[in-house]
Amino acid sequence: MATTGTSAEQEHGGKVSTRHGIVVLDFGGQYTQLIARRIREQQVFSAVLPCTAPLDDIRAQQPVGIVLSGGPSSVYDKDAPVCDPKVLQLGVPVLGICYGMQWLTHTLGGKVERAQHREYGPAQLDVSRPSPLFQGLPDRLKVWESHGDHVVGLPVGFHITGHTDKTVAAVENPEKKFYGVEFHPEVLHTDRGTEILQNFVFTICGAGRNWNRAGFIAETVESIRQQCDGARAICALSGGVDSTVAAALVDRAIGGRLTNVFVDTGLLRRDEFLDTLALLRERLRLNVIGVDASERFLGKLHGVSDPERKRKIIGNEFISVFAEEGRKLLAGAEPGLPVKFLVQGTLYPDVIESVSVKGPSAVIKSHHNVGGLPDDMPFGLIEPLRDLFKDEVRLIGRELGLPDEILVKHPFPGPGLAVRLLGEITPEKLEMLRGADAIVVEEIHRAGLYDKVWQAFAVLLPVRSVGVMGDGRTYGHPIAVRVVDSQDAMTADWSRLPLEVLEKISVRIVNEVPGVNRVVYDISSKPPSTIEWE
Ligand code: XMP
Repeated sequence: MATTGTSAEQEHGGKVSTRHGIVVLDFGGQYTQLIARRIREQQVFSAVLPCTAPLDDIRAQQPVGIVLSGGPSSVYDKDAPVCDPKVLQLGVPVLGICYGMQWLTHTLGGKVERAQHREYGPAQLDVSRPSPLFQGLPDRLKVWESHGDHVVGLPVGFHITGHTDKTVAAVENPEKKFYGVEFHPEVLHTDRGTEILQNFVFTICGAGRNWNRAGFIAETVESIRQQCDGARAICALSGGVDSTVAAALVDRAIGGRLTNVFVDTGLLRRDEFLDTLALLRERLRLNVIGVDASERFLGKLHGVSDPERKRKIIGNEFISVFAEEGRKLLAGAEPGLPVKFLVQGTLYPDVIESVSVKGPSAVIKSHHNVGGLPDDMPFGLIEPLRDLFKDEVRLIGRELGLPDEILVKHPFPGPGLAVRLLGEITPEKLEMLRGADAIVVEEIHRAGLYDKVWQAFAVLLPVRSVGVMGDGRTYGHPIAVRVVDSQDAMTADWSRLPLEVLEKISVRIVNEVPGVNRVVYDISSKPPSTIEWE
């Protein structure tokens, strides 16, 4: 991620742009996202597009260079991912990484050999011929490989610039400015990989340092303003970091023409609805409608225990509440000020997972947005964060002046406490869970651990066990405490909390939450478990 802007802006004449950067075409590689990120860390804008992106979409980015990502396929697979070969005629330098290199050489008439098995792990690169890609680097580098096939015959105009002991590891056609590496410069296991990417971006493509947070905000705000063209927009705000940063950006662009809707599903944490509403309205000065729909949600959930049914009911109900608010706005809109847009805090990982090789991913996770709106609500989408990752969004939020309460807030699932209250949901059980949950969060804060762990919460279990309190026997519910460390929620490990913190949590819950007589700590990692219990 770029360091804050002013000096870079001054240094580069104040020009800041989400154009004139590097387009990364995704062939489905697990590191694709990292490539774009490493480039943005150099203050050069970089967007990932699926390899199937139409040439016009690529041109629209006005790229100064293209990176072809790695991917799990072989160029000989029946449905091997390909991009439009005209990408190679855009007149800008191209760097193929791993599968990208194989596709590049194969497409230009070289020969790629099918591998019996994948080579994975560290290798030594010997640079055998000077190349601008390796400028300023030693002739020997430890690199990280993860490939199946490899290149054995070069297209016309290409030569080899590096080997490992097993394969051709780097090739180039300097006249056309086409480069290929079999290893992954974007991963930290490759020595000085960032410098290889810098050489491509600056020396070969001549990119300017034109991207930083302040610039991203300025440019995004301007383009939202143009996109809205006087119309109004509506946003489903959850108070989480993604939707709040998206709303704050749109608010900066069109101010009072943005209406945010924050729905109380009755499944939020203790005090969350009113506290968040106050924060959004008073501190962030956002135009927010708070809709208390808790009775509707709890009514629909009455008697339902099945986790998937719970999720479905909540998702559908959310859409209908939001659609109702949308219709009210549409009906009340002044002539000449139509409500035309829906704002969503969609992030890059929501848009393009590795399925992107099958085409632009339309399958946005339904729980992250208000997908599924009825047809009579013809909204265009505004998704200002769709090229970014969560930690980049946090930095943008910081630059926008959003408070820490929002920026460091733990993720909270759309279905809320419903997936943390196992079995049937009743108001009494919700109250128990809220009480226990508040204690967990409070003690994690007190111990100074809130921003060190990924998530911390309580789960109410649908069984009862015997206990003793005072002179009497109790027969109460257990609370499971779940605290996990994670980078991205794809994998997670249980947090090794200090025993004193666990003790405090346990004692307080049993003493302060009527109906709970036992506390257990969840020591499962993901996989094989998940973070949430349902
Ligand atoms: P799991 O339980 O799959 O959770 O390990 C991974 C991350 O996703 C969050 N999560 C959800 N978020 N709607 C959401 O918005 C959902 O239905 C949902 N389910 C899980 C979970 O809190 C964790 O951060």
